[in-house]
Amino acid sequence: MTTVVKLGGAAGNAIAPVVDELAGGPADVVLVHGGSEEVDRLATALGRPSEYLTSPSGVVSRRCDPEDLEIVTLALAGRVQTEIVRSLGARGVRAVGLSGVDGRVLLARRRRGVRAVVDGRVVHRANDRSGTVETVDVELLRTLLAAGLVPVVGPPAVTADGELVNVDADRVAADVAAALAADALVLLTNVPGLLARIDDPSSVIGRVDRSRLEEFLPLAHGRMKKKLLAAQAALEGGVARVAIAASSHVPPIARALAGDGTVIA
Ligand SMILES: Nc1ncnc2c1ncn2[C@@H]1O[C@H](COP(=O)(O)OP(=O)(O)OP(=O)(O)O)[C@@H](O)[C@H]1O
Ligand SMILES: [Mg+2]
Repeated sequence: MTTVVKLGGAAGNAIAPVVDELAGGPADVVLVHGGSEEVDRLATALGRPSEYLTSPSGVVSRRCDPEDLEIVTLALAGRVQTEIVRSLGARGVRAVGLSGVDGRVLLARRRRGVRAVVDGRVVHRANDRSGTVETVDVELLRTLLAAGLVPVVGPPAVTADGELVNVDADRVAADVAAALAADALVLLTNVPGLLARIDDPSSVIGRVDRSRLEEFLPLAHGRMKKKLLAAQAALEGGVARVAIAASSHVPPIARALAGDGTVIA
């Protein structure tokens, strides 16, 4: 019973509840993480503030020129992942941090022809260093799980040519879940689920039938859209259900799986 859990890293997410829950018992869990708050903080500190680009189809992504990728790597593989692994270790959970380059666990293809809408015009961004995962090394993850270790996986990924590329962490979680044929994908975030009205936390949509997911896409703005697209990819990849729920609700994984949040199946 492998579960893939993605812990969000935008402001308002919490690490401690997930660490406490994993410390509470043996769990066959692969933890995937994001970390946009830390990337943004470091980017500002280094004098190159983050920028977000909107594609012609309305999907928002981080600008990722080579300088941005360097900051993403420092923040995610350096700080966020180390902190998650440290916290787990401090509670007696043996965890191993892997960015996509470690064992080449996330092998990706670089995106070509990245387009963004700037001042109402579509511009081509030749310098972009983002990509999409093509292969997940499930043998490596299974070896770690069989040894009783919790793999903690996050961006960046690596291409077959050995180039680093940023990848969307929600999508990484979906790709890992599909590759492992996981029972469930749990996307823990800073809101209690998919909200009908973005500023009303009580408007959680409890259940979305997978055949009707397209109808719910327009409700998701900004970065929530990526989460729904990742959920869709996981379901298409054979994962039976996806839960989107609050990382701060205790215990977050069990509550998400029990339907506290949005379940898409
Ligand atoms: N319909 C919606 N329901 C809920 N949240 C929404 C909706 N539309 C947009 N959002 C936004 O999506 C955000 C969650 O995605 P975000 O990428 O910020 O967090 P994360 O994925 O947990 O963190 P990270 O990307 O760092 O891993 C919410 O905080 C909210 O602002
Ligand atoms: Mg996100």
